[in-house]
Amino acid sequence: MKTTFSIALDGPSGSGKSTIAKTLSKKLNILYLDTGAMYRATAIKAIKLGIDTFDEAGVKTFIDDIDLQIKYVDGTQRTYLDGEDVSEKIREPHVSMAASNISSLKPVRLKMVEMQRKIAGSMSCVLDGRDIGSYVLPNADYKFYITASVKVRTDRRYLELKEKGHEVDYDELYKEIEQRDYNDRNRDFAPLVQADDAILIDTSDMTVPEVIEAVMNYIK
Ligand code: DC
Repeated sequence: MKTTFSIALDGPSGSGKSTIAKTLSKKLNILYLDTGAMYRATAIKAIKLGIDTFDEAGVKTFIDDIDLQIKYVDGTQRTYLDGEDVSEKIREPHVSMAASNISSLKPVRLKMVEMQRKIAGSMSCVLDGRDIGSYVLPNADYKFYITASVKVRTDRRYLELKEKGHEVDYDELYKEIEQRDYNDRNRDFAPLVQADDAILIDTSDMTVPEVIEAVMNYIK
């Protein structure tokens, strides 16, 4: 008998996936795996080594042996690279584009997916990303595709970065989000797509509690 279950949350940057995933993990008492954090940490590794984030041959020199660990401290994911806690560093604005670039490389995706499947296979969890329902866990018990307009997603990200004290130019941020969407949707291997059996939720005009309620209604 199957004793664990999984929830896949996919969608573009800033659609609200991580907020939903965090809430679901608390409500359902299951693990939350933020898969974007893994691509972000991989980007930091390349930057550290001075390897361009589009350089597949360069990335191949370290990806198989990358020392990337996901740990849970009081139920919250912490991301470790080479033994260092990089959970805050991976959120720095310059890392977002680097992660988007490096995530287009097949050797990177194969390695990350292998790690994600291992974690998801051992316990019930909610995963957020771009390819969870379409590639990582095609048999996930529940699949949602969470989206919102580029404008709403830029507004949210702008406020979030401002609150953290980052200097941000709104128009640049808007363009960056469009560029990341393009990268995520147009890469050759496991691009961002709505899985055929995923439920679409457009959060543009919804509050967080409304989105949670909509998702929970399906899960019940
Ligand atoms: O969700 P995020 O913004 O933290 O993700 C960072 C980058 O990683 C994003 O631009 C696309 C990539 N990513 C991916 O390709 N596949 C995933 N499952 C998660 C993230």
